[in-house]
Amino acid sequence: MARNARPRGTARLGTLRFSVSIVPADSFREDVIAGLSLPQKSLPPKCFYDANGSRLFEAICRLKEYYPTRAEIALTRAHLGAIVRFAGPRSTLIEYGSGESVKSPLLIEALRPAAYIPVDISNDALRKAAAKLHRRFRWLDVLAVHGDFSRPLKLPMAQARGRRVVYFPGSTIGNLTPDEAQTFLRMTRKQVGARSAMLVGVDLKKDANVLHAAYNDAKGVTAAFNLNLLARINRELRGDFKLRRFRHYAFYNAALGRIEMHLVSLVRQSVKVGKHRFSFDTGESIHTENSYKYSIDGFRALAASAGFKGEKVWLDPKGLFSLHGLVAA
Ligand code: AVJ
Repeated sequence: MARNARPRGTARLGTLRFSVSIVPADSFREDVIAGLSLPQKSLPPKCFYDANGSRLFEAICRLKEYYPTRAEIALTRAHLGAIVRFAGPRSTLIEYGSGESVKSPLLIEALRPAAYIPVDISNDALRKAAAKLHRRFRWLDVLAVHGDFSRPLKLPMAQARGRRVVYFPGSTIGNLTPDEAQTFLRMTRKQVGARSAMLVGVDLKKDANVLHAAYNDAKGVTAAFNLNLLARINRELRGDFKLRRFRHYAFYNAALGRIEMHLVSLVRQSVKVGKHRFSFDTGESIHTENSYKYSIDGFRALAASAGFKGEKVWLDPKGLFSLHGLVAA
């Protein structure tokens, strides 16, 4: 038998390929220097996800106080048939911020897409997840892209078949302000084209105490996740942050409908990052994350403003979290 020939009757094997987005996948140094130079010091949440941060985030997802992951998995299981009917057969599934891809196996197994394109900023998490999915679903083409989905991306679309379905779970969209989310949805719609669809996981507005507990867990994992940002600056950018001089602070800003996370300086101090120096007053903070919460109608209106029709919405049994089925309008 020729070397590459496969015995007849054997299902075709999928391929596993990696590519790097044409724009720099990461700009950690520039983001940190620019962010710490602002009047309200702030850092983009994508900076959390070095290898250590990705691990800490997975630990957050298992915390009893952190309901979003469990709620989203529950709603995906409960409505899998309807979600698959919405996405359609033999589609190309593109996942933004795939991380360790905990939810996608559920969807891939039921949907059996023609190809799966996970996109993530953390190369370690991406490689591990892509290899694992490739082993589990031998028939699937996995075309992993290391890149930053918040900027225009080069996706391996030449190999994409069928309808393009963008999967954006986990309420990652909550990290964006509503204006940024609108721009992001518009950009995505342009990139994947007409006839495309999106499945977007969106955390819902709820009792502020429930929200507060989810971002202030008793074990301090969220605090460690937040403070890891300073450790990452020390490791990668020759910073000299003393982690004990900063405290994790998270609260629900009801007026803006978002959780805010900050790192608050406990003393007046000055910190070096490479050759740059930044000073902090006592109580001054670095704003590290926003996590917006939406009502169902509020998110639908946002999607509509970006050219998407909210065709379907699924909730978990407790009504904590939503998955929106959007189609290009
Ligand atoms: C990954 C952005 C959805 O906002 O809940 C969890 C990140 N931050 N705990 C969120 C996070 C603190 C998470 N997202």
